[in-house]
Amino acid sequence: MAEVIIVNNEEAAGRIYAQCVADLIHSKPDCVLGLATGSSPLAAYQALAHEVKNDHLDVSHVRGFALDEYAGLDPSHPQSYRSTITRTVVEPLGLTPDLVHVPNGALSTIREAGYEYDRMIKAAGGVDVQILGIGTDGHIGFNEPGSSLASGTRIKTLTQQTREDNARFFDNDIDQVPTHCITQGIGTIMKARHLVLLAFGSGKAEAIAETVEGGVSAFCPASALQLHPHATVIVDEKAASKLRNKDYYRYAYEHKPAWQGI
Ligand code: GLP
Repeated sequence: MAEVIIVNNEEAAGRIYAQCVADLIHSKPDCVLGLATGSSPLAAYQALAHEVKNDHLDVSHVRGFALDEYAGLDPSHPQSYRSTITRTVVEPLGLTPDLVHVPNGALSTIREAGYEYDRMIKAAGGVDVQILGIGTDGHIGFNEPGSSLASGTRIKTLTQQTREDNARFFDNDIDQVPTHCITQGIGTIMKARHLVLLAFGSGKAEAIAETVEGGVSAFCPASALQLHPHATVIVDEKAASKLRNKDYYRYAYEHKPAWQGI
């Protein structure tokens, strides 16, 4: 079962992630970061950029693998996940662009692209810390409900709900939101050595309760985290509001030895 940390706001969550990754970069300068898009990780990336600057961390050897990409959207499109990762992670952190990978959503090669992406992650030695957001329907990456919990990187059809949620990035016009994507599978994500899932706001409360305290089920893909040996779920009060065991999570975190980290 994941460790659940309840914080006051996104900035506090971001600081916890940033400390964990800064420690990792110190001990393994060519570490492999699993990267996610969406609004949930933004404060974490900002906090990490702050650590990098303040601690004069050398990030030139840090490698990265993003979770997913829209199918058939040109990488130069401002809402492609390639552009988003460049804007929100590579540039603010000063990572080496060639060391940061995003799945290839080009339609002509998409059938083989998933297999190739999993091969690249394996060749890099696997992901050290994978940051995750969560969709309102419990998806991680773009693994919609019903995704095999053993899946590798592959093409998926987006649900109407996800396209509605993401229309805000496409002039609020759902017709502009691609219908398909390429995403790391749940099986791929589960191979990362440490998973850090961030969720904020009441819109995520149900998905978080299902993820942490519901049954493990492809119906809530994020519930696979219950089977991971090192998963950390960091939520604000609103996203935690439907958790039954909240008091215990708080107590456990308050009494955690500082040396343990997350
Ligand atoms: C998209 C991404 C997910 C992300 C989700 C939630 O579907 N593919 O990786 O977790 O959005 O985004 P947000 O954090 O903006 O709520």
